[in-house]
Amino acid sequence: MSQYHIKNLQEYLQVYKKSIDEPETFWAEIAEEQFIWHKKWNKVLSWDFTKPEVKWFEGAQLNITENCLDRHLITRANKTAIIFEPNHPNEKAQHITYAALYEQVCKMANVLKAKGVQKGDRVCIYLPMIPELTVAILACARIGAVHSVVFAGFSATALATRINDCNCKMMITSDGSFRGAKTLNLKQIVDDALVNCKDLETVLVVKRTGEEVQMEIERDFWLEELLNEASPICPAEIMAAEDPLFILYTSGSTGKPKGMLHTTAGYMVYTAYTFKNVFQYEENDVYWCTADVGWITGHSYIIYGPLCNGATSVMFEGVPSFPDYSRFWQIVEKHNVNQFYTAPTAIRALAKEGKNYVEVFKLKSLKVIGTVGEPINEEAWKWYNEYVGKHKCPVVDTWFQTETGGIMITPIPYVTPTKPTFATLPFIGVQLALMDDEGKEFKGNQVAGRLTIKFPWPSMARSIWGDHERYKNTYFSTFKNQYFTGDGALRDATGFYRITGRVDDIIIVSGHNLGTAPIEDAINEHEYIAESAVVGFPHEVKGNALYGFITLKETPPNFNLEALEKQINTLIATHIGPIAKLDKIQFTEGLPKTRSGKIMRRILRKIAENKIDELGDISTLLNPDCVDSIIENRLV
Ligand code: WTA
Repeated sequence: MSQYHIKNLQEYLQVYKKSIDEPETFWAEIAEEQFIWHKKWNKVLSWDFTKPEVKWFEGAQLNITENCLDRHLITRANKTAIIFEPNHPNEKAQHITYAALYEQVCKMANVLKAKGVQKGDRVCIYLPMIPELTVAILACARIGAVHSVVFAGFSATALATRINDCNCKMMITSDGSFRGAKTLNLKQIVDDALVNCKDLETVLVVKRTGEEVQMEIERDFWLEELLNEASPICPAEIMAAEDPLFILYTSGSTGKPKGMLHTTAGYMVYTAYTFKNVFQYEENDVYWCTADVGWITGHSYIIYGPLCNGATSVMFEGVPSFPDYSRFWQIVEKHNVNQFYTAPTAIRALAKEGKNYVEVFKLKSLKVIGTVGEPINEEAWKWYNEYVGKHKCPVVDTWFQTETGGIMITPIPYVTPTKPTFATLPFIGVQLALMDDEGKEFKGNQVAGRLTIKFPWPSMARSIWGDHERYKNTYFSTFKNQYFTGDGALRDATGFYRITGRVDDIIIVSGHNLGTAPIEDAINEHEYIAESAVVGFPHEVKGNALYGFITLKETPPNFNLEALEKQINTLIATHIGPIAKLDKIQFTEGLPKTRSGKIMRRILRKIAENKIDELGDISTLLNPDCVDSIIENRLV
């Protein structure tokens, strides 16, 4: 049925028009034809961006895992759902069928129930990229528990904040994780975090690395032992369309991380529909997304989107550089991957190592290659197109956010013409606008402004866990009646969109969103540090890297610059994680401030970017004198 699977540009235009003119009819048809429901909805959509409140498929009842698993058992029971490619190439890949995945999910769901987890309870998942991660997520969804996956690169402090923010009752983790040549003791990190999480009752531990770990009696259990005794049958909990499915934290520009709350029916419909079209997935294709499940890309395009479509998808535990820089291409050839989806930072890192690692691979199976997570620069786009796509695979540059749940701007491969660095056109049902600072919409083409969305789409986050006011303030208060993305964008002469980057205090480093405020808070904990300001600057591989401007209260005794810098980065690593470490640290006498005492980051950003002639007017500063010395001592 063409509406579900768009095949040419004319169809895209027709379907897009219908999705805008009659959104309710359009989404109801997709929902009706492609999914199984216990009960259909009474109303497709009700919304009010001033509250804000958005409801899709109200009155419907379903369980998303029945759409990911049960219904495939009739036609795809022996089809591979997941190909697990371990960290080390000597370890055998596992092919997990839909029937096997179904059974594992039911067993784990029964374990969760036996340990007292009930519908609506929050379960924290802190696991490496192993099949148990997928199973744990689906087991939660099976019984209506709300999963909160925390990327297993976050520190104990960051993990504890996330556990406490949504009062998780249970933790699912592993003894350790393999990352290239390294092993990480995850259980130790969990133990450290739990010192500060009094409400968490149970820890289930997957055995992966064989690392020695401490098991606390009555709190910690080896998962395998419990699974061995669990029944393989677990009826799905019947959920309402708007029941919470998961919480996923994303950095805010101020304060603590935001627990974006996603609900069930709309999220399911939109992620499944985008997956099918953005990757032009056909029944026997093998799809591979290299993201970590700890991010939204993994939730929507490793777990829910592919499984709702009965797809076969690769799950890779390791890193692109181990044992060498050809690992990705070896895996593509080994499993005959048809759709490959990765991040610009990975492409840049691989391109830097030279074409030798990729050139020798024919990569004949590839049909579509995608990117996500940050703007892709022209050089990286072209390298990807030439050496990976061999000029025959469309590059889909997909733009979306944790908050949007699913892909919002993207070419549809073999349908939309591609253009380097452009995410091109809105996906079906997505109504974009570019706004000026005064809140007026730029009409027509060849304009640039702040990117907003004017109409609800099914997979949008419904709230921030425990703080609906913050949800309203962050996303619905800047522009009246619109969702504000926090990104800037331009629309070219043909109407194609290019995302130019964040316009707030979030910096994307190697595809990870980092708020500057929590990093500064970590730095300021140092006993000799008075104040700090963190800004981004362009980096060849990471996209952006972090530059910290720091003032001292007093010079530490036995002052040693290198030692102090190390201490600062250690503080950041313990509070947030190693990904947030500063690349450059400049100690300065003062930081430029407005008369109301606010640090003028705009000026520091220009200095970090070495664009000294773009500082603008600094005469209105409280302390314009400090700027000269900062410029003079800047690190370039
Ligand atoms: C950025 C990741 C340019 C953007 C899916 C957005 C992009 C933020 C692209 C969300 C892209 C994501 N081109 N920028 N194709 N995709 N971004 O929540 O700034 O981790 O607001 O979701 O990443 O990051 P998040």
